[in-house]
Amino acid sequence: MALALRAAPPCILAILPKYLPMGEGKLGSEIAKSGMYANSRIVQSNQDAPHPRLHEIVSRHLHMPYRRVPSDAGRRAFESVVDRLREPFVLDAGCGTGASTLTLAARFPQMFVLGVDKSATRLVVGQRLLAKDDGPRNAFLLHCELVDFWQLAAAAGLRCARQYLLYPNPWPKAEQLKRRWHAHAVFADMLKLGGLVELRTNWRIYADEFVQALHIAGCAGRCAVFAPSQPLSPFERKYGASGHELRCCSADLSDRAFREGAA
Ligand SMILES: C[S@@+](CC[C@H](N)C(=O)[O-])C[C@H]1O[C@@H](n2cnc3c(N)ncnc32)[C@H](O)[C@@H]1O
Repeated sequence: MALALRAAPPCILAILPKYLPMGEGKLGSEIAKSGMYANSRIVQSNQDAPHPRLHEIVSRHLHMPYRRVPSDAGRRAFESVVDRLREPFVLDAGCGTGASTLTLAARFPQMFVLGVDKSATRLVVGQRLLAKDDGPRNAFLLHCELVDFWQLAAAAGLRCARQYLLYPNPWPKAEQLKRRWHAHAVFADMLKLGGLVELRTNWRIYADEFVQALHIAGCAGRCAVFAPSQPLSPFERKYGASGHELRCCSADLSDRAFREGAA
């Protein structure tokens, strides 16, 4: 077991404590001993404030059509699930192992909850749980590039009731700004899906930039430091246990100002 744990990717180690609390039982103590759990480093960046080009880049993305052609794999993945997305659904964008998707499916039993991630290795953890007889019927984990998904979903006129972006990769170097979701060209498509959006991050600048980008799009976003009593995702658990300050930003994308293109 110890060997298997050492060989497991960190994402799988991160999901295990959700089902078996740290330090409990043989598996729990293996996780605790592995030393890979509460040891995340604080995000290091050459930025100490929101990026100076944020406004220019977000505005440009909001005004210019995004002409990227979605990949064939993305189209196939999207087509495999689109029929279940006709009613407003809950999107867990970058769901990793899908632990948060399963929790959200229990929290919103009347809605369909879709977790999307590009990592098949991570998704397989939640897919195994979903395949069990007692797994939730209102959830699905989709292996898909999120840029493809947001583009195709927006083009199809789909609507979200809620969108969760839980601990997206920070891309902390200033020159990586356009890889952060709010400064990516697909941001406009994400906004078109609408709903209540919630972003959680352990990097203050990501949170500040996200809220600023929402404001640029004419949408009032809020952000606060928070300490969840029950972690929603493996990365939330890991960063919380590492003593990081966590931030939660939220906004209602059905805001009129945004729909009228206030950018
Ligand atoms: C830091 S992990 C967070 C995972 C999960 N949300 C959590 O909180 O535990 C970021 C996740 O986003 C996924 N991801 C990053 N870029 C993506 C993209 N372009 N398309 C789909 N998934 C992506 C990664 O594969 C990874 O699972």
